[in-house]
Amino acid sequence: MVSGSKAGTSPHREIEVMRQSIDDHLAGLLPETDSQDIVSLAMREGVMAPGKRIRPLLMLLAARDLRYQGSMPTLLDLACAVELTHTASLMLDDMPCMDNAEQRRGQPTTHKKFGESVAILASVGLLSKAFGLIAATGDLPGERRAQAVNELSTAVGVQGLVLGQFRDLNDAALDRTPDAILSTNHLKTGILFSAMLQIVAIASASSSSTRETLHAFALDFGQAFQLLDDLRDDHPETGKDRNKDAGKSTLVNRLGADAARQKLREHIDSADKHLTFACPQGGAIRQFMHLWFGHHLADWSPVMKIA
Ligand code: IPE
Ligand code: IPE
Ligand code: MG
Ligand code: MG
Ligand code: MG
Repeated sequence: MVSGSKAGTSPHREIEVMRQSIDDHLAGLLPETDSQDIVSLAMREGVMAPGKRIRPLLMLLAARDLRYQGSMPTLLDLACAVELTHTASLMLDDMPCMDNAEQRRGQPTTHKKFGESVAILASVGLLSKAFGLIAATGDLPGERRAQAVNELSTAVGVQGLVLGQFRDLNDAALDRTPDAILSTNHLKTGILFSAMLQIVAIASASSSSTRETLHAFALDFGQAFQLLDDLRDDHPETGKDRNKDAGKSTLVNRLGADAARQKLREHIDSADKHLTFACPQGGAIRQFMHLWFGHHLADWSPVMKIA
């Protein structure tokens, strides 16, 4: 058995059960509507399309590691709020004025299916729903709900994901330094990973030192995640357009795939070290991280052996 998984249950099976509970909760948050209500339909279809759900999954695993004592519906509200936020960012990222993508999660992008105005409105609708969900969620004390809303709003806002996306679009064709690329990747991707773990830590009443170490973990995890996304730009099975990063100064294009893979490994090693401090008593996130990157990187040799 792997530390972090429940006795007698395979980690893969546990992840599938969690993923299903996330999908069920998302479906409940975005009920089927009158087909005339095109924006609601676009919101539902964009979210319910088969995303990997890595953010809400990590939140559920973090809750286990941090000994979260609240209710499951509240935890699912928090996790799904992050998934709604992330999906909203993807809808905008795919627009013709941004990455001009045609495929997302194995389906036509929202603006291809419903038109650009609907895609913008669906994205705003999802963001609004995400913040409302955290603000109103069940058994979290009011002060902690406010802190959680604040975490998400700072991460998404003009000094966070918005700035990262702006820089990514405007500087992509420039000869960016590796540090400039890392900084933009942190803003466009890592910052949401950090905010969502802070939200679980807030809900779990974790100490400030745990929260700081989780932040450090999330920064490494976010860099590794974006590097993997960039490495898989030409992969035929991502459900997205292929070769979208051609001509873009990603780390993969600047340093080459081998060096990018090496950097990815360094981020995972560093993330692993932070986790041993942040969650000494639980290994759920750690186990998941190694399974995840092991699955996607064929020659990956995990820091923690999974028996
Ligand atoms: C895509 O995120 C955007 C990046 C930050 C690389 P995901 O790879 O998590 O996309 P979905 O949610 O599975 O569609
Ligand atoms: C992540 O970068 C974008 C967001 C944070 C929305 P990408 O533009 O590389 O993501 P994909 O490849 O379209 O999913
Ligand atoms: Mg992009
Ligand atoms: Mg894109
Ligand atoms: Mg990409």
